[in-house]
Amino acid sequence: MARGELMKKLLASYGRDEDFRAVAEQIIDEEEKKNNRALARTLRKTLEAGPQRTQSAPKALAPLIPFPEAAADFVERIEPEHNRNDIVLSAANVRVLLGLVKEFRRADEIRQHGLKIRSKMLFCGPPGCGKTLCAEIFAAELGLPLFRVKLDRLISSYLGETATNIRKTFEFARKQPCVLFFDEFDALARTRDDSGEHNELRRVVNSLLLFIDNMQPKGFLIAATNLDRSLDAAIWRRFDEVLWFDKPEAAMIARFLKLKFKNVPIAFDPARHSAALEGYSFAEIERVCTQAIKAIIIERRKQVQERDFNRALRDEARRRAGQARLAPII
Ligand SMILES: Nc1ncnc2c1ncn2[C@@H]1O[C@H](COP(=O)(O)OP(=O)(O)OP(=O)(O)O)[C@@H](O)[C@H]1O
Ligand SMILES: [Mg+2]
Repeated sequence: MARGELMKKLLASYGRDEDFRAVAEQIIDEEEKKNNRALARTLRKTLEAGPQRTQSAPKALAPLIPFPEAAADFVERIEPEHNRNDIVLSAANVRVLLGLVKEFRRADEIRQHGLKIRSKMLFCGPPGCGKTLCAEIFAAELGLPLFRVKLDRLISSYLGETATNIRKTFEFARKQPCVLFFDEFDALARTRDDSGEHNELRRVVNSLLLFIDNMQPKGFLIAATNLDRSLDAAIWRRFDEVLWFDKPEAAMIARFLKLKFKNVPIAFDPARHSAALEGYSFAEIERVCTQAIKAIIIERRKQVQERDFNRALRDEARRRAGQARLAPII
């Protein structure tokens, strides 16, 4: 079978242990047939070293219910690419998230006592500070599939004949243990604010909020927004927890720099630049690190020098200044 087809099959089997193993074996057989013996041996060893059965794995993956076809336009499955070692979180957020994980794992017992578990979260904070990344890692930690709802599409489609599809999506999330992620939730909040002619749209948005209100997800519902203080109270109160993802202060920046240069030969201590990077988002700091690392590849050097870092930092500062100039225009 063509490699592309096998890869597709492999990804489609995600979360189904037996199917995954079968496809992996097929890939190994193909490599053997192609005489790539060393690769086939390594792959087989890796496969054998992995968890043998789902129940022996530390985080059992949730079984997947087929996703409603009709919702495919505005909901997409996101495959996790990161794990908990890839994110720098504030101590407060770590505490809340660990609390939620514990609660989720004891959900049945808690419910038996007639208590509700917290399952709806709002992530607030400026761009590039880890809201989406955290949703991805949180889902992966729990072994739950992550589905991202494209709100702008959902809102416009709601006006047409696809209302049933939305209901189906919510029904799906009620049955399927998953993390349903409403990225850019601001779209909703903004529409609510819009005055005048968009009455119909506002009615639709309000009923969507009602759906969220009434839903008791089998897993979690997470909404992310750039707006925080300006979100109206009616939206706030729908969430069991609100987490802030602020721009990092120096200590978190130092941890982040250490992480980014973990496997890179470096001739200076990047933590020295932590204070100078205050006010930058993680995504911006990441760009500085990436550019500094690229310099040694381009110039075929062995170590990242402080000047590489400084140059990348200057570029980022220039970019930010440009952004600030554009802000009033946008
Ligand atoms: N707290 C963090 N720890 C580690 N890396 C981070 C963190 N925050 C952001 N990053 C890096 O920046 C990238 C962008 O972050 P992310 O998409 O999570 O931001 P966001 O808060 O969702 O932004 P937006 O509001 O624009 O959607 C991540 O993929 C990651 O590489
Ligand atoms: Mg995001």
